[in-house]
Amino acid sequence: KRLVVLVSGSGTNLQALLDEIDAVGAQEYGAEVVAVGADREGIEGLARAERAGLPTFVCKVRDYGSREEWDAALAEAAAAFEPDLVVSAGFMKIVGKEFLARFGGRFVNTHPALLPSFPGAHGVRDALAYGAKVTGCTVHFVDDGVDTGPIIAQGVVEVRDEDDESALHERIKEVERRLLVEVVGRLARNGYRIEGRKVVIQ
Ligand code: GRF
Repeated sequence: KRLVVLVSGSGTNLQALLDEIDAVGAQEYGAEVVAVGADREGIEGLARAERAGLPTFVCKVRDYGSREEWDAALAEAAAAFEPDLVVSAGFMKIVGKEFLARFGGRFVNTHPALLPSFPGAHGVRDALAYGAKVTGCTVHFVDDGVDTGPIIAQGVVEVRDEDDESALHERIKEVERRLLVEVVGRLARNGYRIEGRKVVIQ
């Protein structure tokens, strides 16, 4: 299966996928990353892709006349690589109708909180501020809401009294990387069905 991965930051989730595929081989894993896309230049995620010899594309919202045009351009850019699955690994933009029309049902996101708790761009900070005792990460299909699509898998991470946002996020990311690698591999190898809010992986 062909994966396009979308990033906006350091790309450690992308790196986890690349390392796993290097370790076990694309055949065994069931997928290979064919391109990496971003909404901004100059991020470590793109540098990781370049080091891996992968094609990259960048679609910046401000380069387009409207959000819809950006969304259509992002969809076009991703579609050029004929992905079977698109993986948002720290991609910090909400895609629109065009992107979902093309990739809905095969577009996976990872979020650093236990959805439906703490959706949005500051899930780690919000869980900490709320005083949650456990938080974690969620891998889910993207729908037309913000972090509201059908949940595939979740991992639990304890919150420690001494945690600040970055310490907690690092601990979450250790679980998140492994969860994402495991889920993407299973989706790619086994195939799956989405039945309402349930995801059935064969
Ligand atoms: C991940 O925790 C992701 O869930 C969140 O931002 C982080 C991105 O990390 N949206 P990286 O860019 O994969 O290192």
